[in-house]
Amino acid sequence: MESRIERDLIVAFRQSFAREPRLFRAPGRINLIGEHVDYNDGFVMPAALDLSIWAAIAPRADRRLRIRSLIMDEIVEFDLDEANARPRGDWTDYVRGVAIFLEQAGYRLSGADLVFNGNLPIGAGLSASAAFEVSAGFALLTISGAKVDRVELAGICQRAENQFVGVRCGIMDQYISCCAVAGSALLLDCRSLTARKVAIDPQARLVLCDTMVRHRLASDEYNLRREDCERAVAALSTRIAGIAALRDVTFAQLMRCADSMPERVFRRARHVVGEIDRTLRAAAALDAGDLNECGRLMNLSHESLRDDYQVSCAELDLMVDLARRIPGVYGARMMGGGFGGCTINLVDGKRAEAFAQSMTERYRTATGVTPPILTCVPGPGAGPAGL
Ligand code: GLA
Repeated sequence: MESRIERDLIVAFRQSFAREPRLFRAPGRINLIGEHVDYNDGFVMPAALDLSIWAAIAPRADRRLRIRSLIMDEIVEFDLDEANARPRGDWTDYVRGVAIFLEQAGYRLSGADLVFNGNLPIGAGLSASAAFEVSAGFALLTISGAKVDRVELAGICQRAENQFVGVRCGIMDQYISCCAVAGSALLLDCRSLTARKVAIDPQARLVLCDTMVRHRLASDEYNLRREDCERAVAALSTRIAGIAALRDVTFAQLMRCADSMPERVFRRARHVVGEIDRTLRAAAALDAGDLNECGRLMNLSHESLRDDYQVSCAELDLMVDLARRIPGVYGARMMGGGFGGCTINLVDGKRAEAFAQSMTERYRTATGVTPPILTCVPGPGAGPAGL
C-alpha cells in the first residue's frame, strides 16, 4: 500500500504533467562507526534509514528532463544533449549530474518528467543528497529500459557528486542507499565494495539526535580533509613501499613516520588509521553481542573526530556529553561529515524512551533548541515503490 508521501507525489505529478508516473524510492542512512574512512579505502558500518526520497517519473518522447521537487517547490528543465552542462549550485545538480554520468557510463537515457518528495530531513547529515541521486538514477535507468546494477549505480552517483556537484565524498552513502539490507547494518569494505551483514542486538536501539545545526561550509572543510589524507599518503609513500591509501598503513608504521608530515596532517591520518581499526573491532563486538565494547569504540570515534580530525562542533560535543550522562547509553558520537547534523547513540532498548525524553530536556535547557530524536529501524535499499 502506498504511503501518504507517495499519494501526494502521484497527485502532484498528475497536476504538473497530466499523466501517470512510476515511483522509485531511495533511503537516507546512518553510520554506526567508520567516519571519514570511506575515501581512504577503509571499512564503514552504515544502515539505511526508513526515511527516503521518492522520485515519480514518466518518460518523454524527447531528450528533455523536467524536474520538480515538492520539498523546494520549482520546476527546472534540462536537455540531456546540452554540451558543457554546468551545475546550478542547487538540488537539481544531484539529478542532472546523475543523468550526465549515467550517459557517460554508456547508458542512453530517455527524456523524462520527474517529481521528487521525501520524509528525509535535508541538511541533517542523513544523506538526502545520495538519496536524491540514487532515486533519480534508479528511476531514469528503469524507464530507459536498462537493468539496474546497484553497485555500479552507487559508483555513478558518487562520481556525479564528486565531479558535477563538487563534493569529493566517498562511496558510503550511495552504496548503502543502493544496497542496504532491511534489519541489519553492513560492514562495507570501501576498497573491494563487498559487504557483510552485521546484526544489531534486538535489545538495543540506534537513536539519532539532531543538533539542528546546518553548517554551510561543511563541503569545503570536507574537501580539505580529503586533501590532508592525500598529503599523508604522499608523505608515507616516501618511506613505505606499496601504499595506495591510509587503509594500507598500520598504526605502528604511522607513528614511525610521524616526522615525515606536518602535525595537522599526522593527526588526520591518526584518526583514519585508528577509525578503521575501531570499525573492525566494533563489528567483532556486535558479532559477539558485546554492546558495551561497541559503545566504547563509538565514544573513542567521537573523541578522535573531535580532536584529531576536527570535524565536530560545540553542539555535537554537547549532545554527546549529555548523552553519556543518561543511564542506558552504551556509546554516543557525531555521525556523518560533521559540523552539525546528528549524533548516533547506542541505547538499551528498555531505556530508549527515557533517553529521548531526558535528551530533549537537557539539550533544550542548554541551547533553547528542541532536538528532533529518531529511533532508526534499518530499512531496505532503493527500489520501485508505490503502485
Ligand atoms: C559524508 C560523505 C561520506 C563519508 C561521510 C563521513 O556523508 O558523503 O562519503 O565520507 O561524510 O564518514
